[in-house]
Amino acid sequence: MPTAQLGRGQIGSMRHPHDRPDIASFYHLSARSVSETACQGTACFVARRLNPSCWLQASLQLPRVYCLGKCFMAPASGADEGRPNVEIHASQGVILDRIAHGGARTLAEYSRSGAYPTLEKALGETPEKIIRMIEVSGLRGRGGAGFPTGRKWRAVSQQSSAEKFVIANADEGDPGAYVDRFILEEDPHCLLEALAIAGYAVGASKGYVYLRNEYPKAHTVLQRAIAEARAHGMLGAHILESNFSFDVEEVLGLGSYVCGEETALISSIEGKRPEVSARPPYPTERGLYGKPTLVNNVETLATIPWIVANGGDAYQALGFSKSRGTKVVSLNSLFRRPGLYEVEFGISIHQIVYDLGGGLKTDAIRGVMVGGPLAGIIPPHLFDTPFGFEQLRAIGASVGHGGFIAFDARTSIPDLVHHVFAFGAHESCGKCTPCRLGSRRVERILQRILENGHAPAGAKTEWTSLVSALAVTSLCGLGVGLAEFADSVSRYYGEELEPCFR
Ligand SMILES: Cc1cc2nc3c(=O)[nH]c(=O)nc-3n(C[C@H](O)[C@H](O)[C@H](O)COP(=O)(O)O)c2cc1C
Ligand code: SF4
Repeated sequence: MPTAQLGRGQIGSMRHPHDRPDIASFYHLSARSVSETACQGTACFVARRLNPSCWLQASLQLPRVYCLGKCFMAPASGADEGRPNVEIHASQGVILDRIAHGGARTLAEYSRSGAYPTLEKALGETPEKIIRMIEVSGLRGRGGAGFPTGRKWRAVSQQSSAEKFVIANADEGDPGAYVDRFILEEDPHCLLEALAIAGYAVGASKGYVYLRNEYPKAHTVLQRAIAEARAHGMLGAHILESNFSFDVEEVLGLGSYVCGEETALISSIEGKRPEVSARPPYPTERGLYGKPTLVNNVETLATIPWIVANGGDAYQALGFSKSRGTKVVSLNSLFRRPGLYEVEFGISIHQIVYDLGGGLKTDAIRGVMVGGPLAGIIPPHLFDTPFGFEQLRAIGASVGHGGFIAFDARTSIPDLVHHVFAFGAHESCGKCTPCRLGSRRVERILQRILENGHAPAGAKTEWTSLVSALAVTSLCGLGVGLAEFADSVSRYYGEELEPCFR
């Protein structure tokens, strides 16, 4: 059982996944404070001319920190503090309601009764009824892939194992996204309540929050919230005098983007080298310690209490097409009004960029990277596209984590491609050769372009074959995302890139 296996990285109910030095070398950060670092994430990269000295500090920084979740005030360092603009532009505020009103860090702020109200309601229903509600809601995972949440919960519930786990994926590595950070920092009890409801529905008595080390404040708030929930009997044995027992442990990541991928994350919690594993078996069948495991993103889970309180139909009534409900988008600092906006699916990219974000404060917009750098860029002529899973896929882009990184004429396309492939190469887990070596090779080709104004002979053929190898052979979304990004650059910004290959 996990508790007995905790290594010397354990601190109270929180631990680091770095018990062995050979495994620790996989990670990019030591357990030291990130307050001395500066961010090199994509939002900071496109905003670097707004504060060149901060960016210079980032470039000199060792180790590299790719996103501190401060994209609304980029370029930012670990020491910079600030709170984004938080607004709800949906007929119902599902996720940001409390956060828009200042947050609810304590149990008293979260619930007038001092108990988790929706958990209380859930415990009065059968697990089957809760799962059915989630299925009816049409909720899809907010961690990137958009997998139907109800279907995943049912898959875990149907496993006959006596021991199961639920995991909140709080690794939020996609540069540009910072919604999970503010849910953790300002509404931690919502996440804990959701984990307990999920545990009850699928038959698990232990939950984990895998939290990135880059969010030190979230760690402090979460630790306090876990202690408070235990003290009030919302976590622990016989919750609300029922037969249901459930507890939560926090595990801190150490600066590896790929640890957000669910199989790598599970290996990281187990204290193994966190490489991605081939699926099947899916974690729903064989996950943490070989047991059926539910892995859900923080924003996905934060939606659960609202659905259980209001019913699956009420959630289903929001949104459009196969993208039901609301989603929080995170706008970067180049917007006139950067911040977190909860929107209903179906809103157009144009509305998000201009009506909510107010357009850019610098030059005219050249494109927006939605869902992180490992996806296609949306050029301005496609801004009428509605924000929805299938609709963005149709133009080679992705909803992903909902980060919006707009860039202007100050970012050259070769520079952007170099930045994204440097990120991919740095974060590759190394399992697939095209990702491990190919991403580094593309980075070098772009480096030559930036230095000499043109690529070495034969580079175009090499680029084409490396990108198609990434698309076809990558085991996970990191390699595939690099290929999607490269394809969209060729498709929409070829005029700027092609001359470099001549
Ligand atoms: C390279 C890579 C990084 C990922 N990073 C995250 C992450 O930081 N947070 C997250 O929730 N999901 C991340 N995912 C997706 C997870 O593997 C998984 O699909 C998700 O946590 C499932 O939760 P959901 O169904 O609620 O979206 C990542 C996937 C890949 C391929
Ligand atoms: S695509 Fe890259 S990150 Fe993903 S499994 Fe392969 S080597 Fe690892």
